[in-house]
Amino acid sequence: MAKKKIAAEGLFCVGKSQGRKDALSKALGTARYTDDYSYGGMLYAATVRSPRPHIKIRGIRAGAAAEVKGFVTLVTAADIPGRRMWSLVINDYPFLPDRTARFAGEALALAVAETQEAAEAAAKLVEVYYEELPYLDDPVKGLEPDALKIYGDNNVFSSFVIKKGDADKALGKAAVVVERVFKTNYQVHVYLETQAMIAFPEAENGMTVYGSMQCPYYVLDGVSEALGIAHNKVRIVQRTTGGGFGGKEEVPTIVGVHAALCARKTGRPVKLVYNRVEDFQSMSKRHPGWVKIAYGADRNGRLVAARVKYVLDAGAYSTMSPVVLWRGTVHAAGPYSIPNADISTFAVATNKVPCGAYRGFGQPQVAFANESLMDELAEKLGMDPLELRLKNILRDGDTTATGQVIKNSGLEEVISAVRKKSGWEKNRRRAPAAGPKQYGIGLSVNYYGVGLGAMGRYLDRAGANVMVSKDGSVRIAVGNVEMGQGALTVLAQIGAETLNAPYCGVELTDVDTARVPDSGPTVASRTTLMSGNAIIDACNPIRARMFVVARELLEAKSGAVVNASGGIFSCGAKTVTFAAVASECWKRRLKMAEQGWYVPERTSFDLKTGRGDAYVTYSYAANVAEISADSETGEVRVERLICAHDMGKAVNPDLVIGQIHGGALQGIGYALYENLLHKDGVMWNPNMTDYVVPSAFEAPAYDATIVEKPYRAGPYNAKGFGELPLIGPSAAIANAIKHALGVRVPQTPLLPEKVWAALEAG
Ligand code: MOS
Repeated sequence: MAKKKIAAEGLFCVGKSQGRKDALSKALGTARYTDDYSYGGMLYAATVRSPRPHIKIRGIRAGAAAEVKGFVTLVTAADIPGRRMWSLVINDYPFLPDRTARFAGEALALAVAETQEAAEAAAKLVEVYYEELPYLDDPVKGLEPDALKIYGDNNVFSSFVIKKGDADKALGKAAVVVERVFKTNYQVHVYLETQAMIAFPEAENGMTVYGSMQCPYYVLDGVSEALGIAHNKVRIVQRTTGGGFGGKEEVPTIVGVHAALCARKTGRPVKLVYNRVEDFQSMSKRHPGWVKIAYGADRNGRLVAARVKYVLDAGAYSTMSPVVLWRGTVHAAGPYSIPNADISTFAVATNKVPCGAYRGFGQPQVAFANESLMDELAEKLGMDPLELRLKNILRDGDTTATGQVIKNSGLEEVISAVRKKSGWEKNRRRAPAAGPKQYGIGLSVNYYGVGLGAMGRYLDRAGANVMVSKDGSVRIAVGNVEMGQGALTVLAQIGAETLNAPYCGVELTDVDTARVPDSGPTVASRTTLMSGNAIIDACNPIRARMFVVARELLEAKSGAVVNASGGIFSCGAKTVTFAAVASECWKRRLKMAEQGWYVPERTSFDLKTGRGDAYVTYSYAANVAEISADSETGEVRVERLICAHDMGKAVNPDLVIGQIHGGALQGIGYALYENLLHKDGVMWNPNMTDYVVPSAFEAPAYDATIVEKPYRAGPYNAKGFGELPLIGPSAAIANAIKHALGVRVPQTPLLPEKVWAALEAG
């Protein structure tokens, strides 16, 4: 009876907060990161960088660097045996430039030496002869007809249009219209481990690269191209990675290729580890955004139209900008049912650091704009901002701006959860305090397209290899990586659940392209969904074989039910362990290893017309920020963050909560503190002293609610959501500032001096 109950309850591993697979090694400090490794005969490389935003290179010579004790060689563009251009979306970024460098901090050459110190000393002495060129540092100016042209004939890397109905006409007739320009600044990932790679030359022209990364198969592509060798001559091994957040999506390819070029030229292993300053100067950032947005509504607060012009400051090379821009484009009108929408977007070249992937990927910028503007609309209508949202959110059967019909919307549930938990109605009506310290409460609502969507559909597939050993331990190999987000744990849970294996006996193989299948990149909140499904696909046939054997071991009569839960197979009072069944399967020479594959349903979105299904599914969130704001100094502190997230199924609830806390704190940093600046085209504060990120002291009290509206195509109904927690907080905070002090600052970060200036301006 008791056993039957376990089976009826269903899952034994998924949905439980199993301990992290990497908890001990990280807590005890035994995890080994790239820089912790060295090899016999290993050399060190240091990068020579462009001092100015736009230069014509006249020559690069070792010069005095050659005199440094331990100097070995200088590696330049001339040392690239294969393709010089990095092929990503648009092939405009040279691994090393030969004629023109396009941003301050761009890698020009590498000094290789016997020690780290010698490499750094030599890099400083390398002689770079150059001529300065005029530079462009403002993307909005870059769109003007008479702007300096630094890319093509209009500086535009990428541009999209989405049209639904007739927005201009609807705005012209709308009872209430609000319009404003919002700006967002850069955001730096501030992963604790800077970029790091070690390249190891192998026999027969092969190359192995070990390092910190999210996407080993991207690095493989780059190394293969730059060295001009086949994919099967390249092996990429991910080492324990100290944070990524998108910052280790595309740009580690540059670092890996540079290390490999040095190793190829010298024939020795070469370590290349960035210091924090160069990591700031040269690696990807969140794009600064410029968003002009208008909403129109009828008297009752029903949205009738949205018009959005969205410009991203892409920096000097396009890298991921087209894809980042596309995600922003699709989500630009907000999570609302709007009959008319006109969205036009541009990723514009500037002579600054190339921007790329960062958790949220083009959405935080537009979400700050649309969710701030929704509050302005509510104010103009004299409505409660939460009520206005409830009136307009995407419900099942509604269509997005691209015409996608929404199924399984969790928006109402997430809004209800934060409404109740925040005491919304009561707290919105709180009377002003006597002193300067004022209370404010603000809301934002978001949705997030899971996976790469139509723009990246060719990469949205996943492979998984699963093997059950004769001792009952299980090895799972996927190409997705652990970078702190919990992939090792969640994917092991999915494997354990599907096989009926004890969780403690399921391990993910270290990601090494010679040993794991290509599961697509570890990005876009896709790993749980895509690789989770691939693992289930691999486990299912093994599970079926094991069930047959378990029946026999249990001597189950035909028609008798065999239950499987918690690593035990049972029939009536008889039980047999997973390990015993595995051992018997091996004795019978059954196939105990399988490859699984998952390809999501094809998205119908057409890039030319901007119509169709953009993503296979969406996740949903609502955030309420409770703040204290000082009416004399403009200082703001987030006291409490109440949020609710719908991710279909929380495979590991503790890890979900952890993702929420971490992402929300990054969102708070984005809103209030993080302020990367340039001066004369050069990054001004590329370090952790002058670029301020929130710490534990700035962390609010969190109240996070998990909402689970099952997504049937997901593994155990789960969808991805890792990026979503970062997207909402900024507008919730801006709306809370408006509530507390009566002023709106339309530009992140919402620094005290800006809030104060807005108060002064009245
Ligand atoms: Mo992520 S920003 O899709 O690496």
